Amino acid sequence: HLTFWVGNAKQAASYYCNKLGFEPLAYRGLETGSRDVVSHAVKQGKIVYVFSSALNPGNKEMGDHLVKHGDGVKDVAFTVTDCDFLVQKAREQGAVIVMEPHTLEDKSGKVRLAVLQTYGDTTHTLVERSGYSGLFLPGFHSPLFKDPLLATLPSGKLNFIDHVVGNQPEDHMVPVVDWYQRNLLFHRFWSVDDKQLQTEFSALRSIVVANHEETVKMPINEPAMGKRKSQIQEYVEYYGGPGVQHIAMNTSDIITAIRNLKQRGMEFMSVPDTYYEQLRENLQHSKVQISEDLDVLQALNILVDYDDDGYLLQIFTKPVQDRPTVFLEVIQRHNHQGFGAGNFKSLFAAIEADQNIRGNLTVLTPNGDSNNM
Ligand SMILES: [Fe+2]
Repeated sequence: HLTFWVGNAKQAASYYCNKLGFEPLAYRGLETGSRDVVSHAVKQGKIVYVFSSALNPGNKEMGDHLVKHGDGVKDVAFTVTDCDFLVQKAREQGAVIVMEPHTLEDKSGKVRLAVLQTYGDTTHTLVERSGYSGLFLPGFHSPLFKDPLLATLPSGKLNFIDHVVGNQPEDHMVPVVDWYQRNLLFHRFWSVDDKQLQTEFSALRSIVVANHEETVKMPINEPAMGKRKSQIQEYVEYYGGPGVQHIAMNTSDIITAIRNLKQRGMEFMSVPDTYYEQLRENLQHSKVQISEDLDVLQALNILVDYDDDGYLLQIFTKPVQDRPTVFLEVIQRHNHQGFGAGNFKSLFAAIEADQNIRGNLTVLTPNGDSNNM
């Protein structure tokens, strides 16, 4: 699960339920004996998001986090089979242990957890829950309220988290990739350099790390020098450092999912019609067969990336808070394990158009100054 630290957990959880098709899963707050922090957990398929806020004045850690980052992802939790072993391995490699392995317990059983520091203020919680049968985690109770509107809305059709992307400042990508290889025994799964990932104005580099089973995939990005400020740099400046840039959620029916999410009022990036004209032309020279109707994909602004053996369909939301930081992706895979490199250019052109409206597509000069255009 992912934990977001936000200014108003109740309203954030409601947004994800109403716009994206999540349902309330579990709650802890004053009514359940949690005196300092309130948390609303929501669920869709296997995806669980937790929204947490401070309850009292003077919560320095959560307050400082909110002032610096705005609403954002604080923690990406992994289910593990042996929490103590993994923490010991990470410790031997020099990882910062934020919280030592400890056991939480209630009437539904026991959970063993520990917290490791990763990039920026982001953490990873390792959760060993084989002995637990409760709703979510010890201390969480049933939701206090279920919005009756939710049952009347069309399904979000989102099944599981496909990947979680972390943005880094320039030259920090490789050290972060090394951190995952050293401390969590991840390996390099995929990478692209700034020659492949550039628009007229900006560029980025990306390396994807994955666990042994390749069930967890974490792309790590950094900006590369271009004519204007990279969107990765824009993120880093507004987030106040490294952090989670986007979360991709996998669906087995992206057309219905996006139709439904648009009907629910979710806002997505748009794609120019020229993208689909080019795509139709390029597909004539490829062996791959796209089973979906391209006219429907175009009408919904769904992007296609492919090679001879398969393809993926993907779409990105606008940022889900006022700062141009975290956004979401919906992805459907057909025998294709990439991350949409073929779409980066058109996606970035769309992001840069918004970046320009925000006054952040600034011209970079050799001495490091920048000017608004
Ligand atoms: Fe992605």
